[in-house]
Amino acid sequence: MDSASDERFSVLGSPSLAFGSAGAFRLPEARQRRRLFDAAYDAGFRHFDVAPMYGMGQAEGELSALLKKRGSTVTVTTKFGIDASVFGRAVGKVQGPIRRVLAAKPSMNTDLQKAASGPASSIAGRLLYRPTGFSQEAARKSLRRSLQALGRGTIELFILHDPLPHEMTIAERDGTISYLEEERASGRIGNWGVAVHDPRLTGDGASLINQAPFLQFRDHLFLPPPPTMTSSQVATYGALAGALPRIEQFFAADPRARQRWVDELDLTESGPRSLASVILRETTRRNPFGPVLFTTTKPHRLQPAMEAIAFNAPLDESARISQLVADVIDRGAGA
Ligand SMILES: NC(=O)c1ccc[n+]([C@@H]2O[C@H](COP(=O)([O-])OP(=O)(O)OC[C@H]3O[C@@H](n4cnc5c(N)ncnc54)[C@H](OP(=O)(O)O)[C@@H]3O)[C@@H](O)[C@H]2O)c1
Repeated sequence: MDSASDERFSVLGSPSLAFGSAGAFRLPEARQRRRLFDAAYDAGFRHFDVAPMYGMGQAEGELSALLKKRGSTVTVTTKFGIDASVFGRAVGKVQGPIRRVLAAKPSMNTDLQKAASGPASSIAGRLLYRPTGFSQEAARKSLRRSLQALGRGTIELFILHDPLPHEMTIAERDGTISYLEEERASGRIGNWGVAVHDPRLTGDGASLINQAPFLQFRDHLFLPPPPTMTSSQVATYGALAGALPRIEQFFAADPRARQRWVDELDLTESGPRSLASVILRETTRRNPFGPVLFTTTKPHRLQPAMEAIAFNAPLDESARISQLVADVIDRGAGA
């Protein structure tokens, strides 16, 4: 790693793929999720993204087993501002049977995940989650609770979980930033940041983003290139979720176009030249400021994901992938 990359990952100490824990909770059994976290570590993942709301309140506690085993070789992001409700946590403790039904019906699982992705998403979301706010006091309380759940005295990244501009007054925002800076100075958090769906916010939202030393946002090949960051590190999510189904749909609808792109990109069914690998690799190129969050429920996909980004790809791969994306957009596929 050169010195520029060292600087990029100074807080996370991580390669350019990190493991997003939320997706693991599509697995029904806690022991399957534990095995998945272990397998992610064995495949080379060293940074894990988690939040109090993930796994309906179970994610931080479940990740703590890995942290206990692997100590300071693992770095962690957790968030504040949304938690599982009392009802959500109760459901979280007995979620196995529900997850088993959903695991057998992947499309229903995806629909339900969308519907219950946060307190603002639907009735289910409002029942399962609760907004805890972004005040200084909310941050302090949440950090205490997260450290306890994770079994740690410090955390590398502590970020505001999808704040909406109207959810914070200017005074509250400034108070929270001072508090986070204090925690950073004390070493209890390595850094703080903000998770937003779109970093191109304007007005009060932009002001928070501009002050945050770390940003987490959605980025994939069908979105405009992310803004150039001058002073923030960045983690992005949605690399595969945002692009892979759309390209697969395009290929399914037009087998001749598929064959042309298989030849153009020299795509293989698996390995570092598979479509998923090419997409992951290109998405990491779009973010020179930190890791791409990746998730899977399938342990056998972890090592190939790491190999995909280490692969020495042809120099014109980016240009070809841009052409493919333009082709998919032109045909209006999967939009
Ligand atoms: N801050 C926020 O608001 C926010 C929002 C969303 C996500 N996140 C974080 O980001 C993490 C990543 O989420 P994401 O949506 O960005 O996930 P992603 O990595 O873009 O996509 C995951 C999906 O891709 C599939 N997949 C993985 N490898 C594959 C392969 N080789 N071939 C085909 N399909 C493959 C997985 O299915 P299988 O399980 O079948 O492999 C899963 O459905 C989350 O877990 C969470 O930690 C944060």
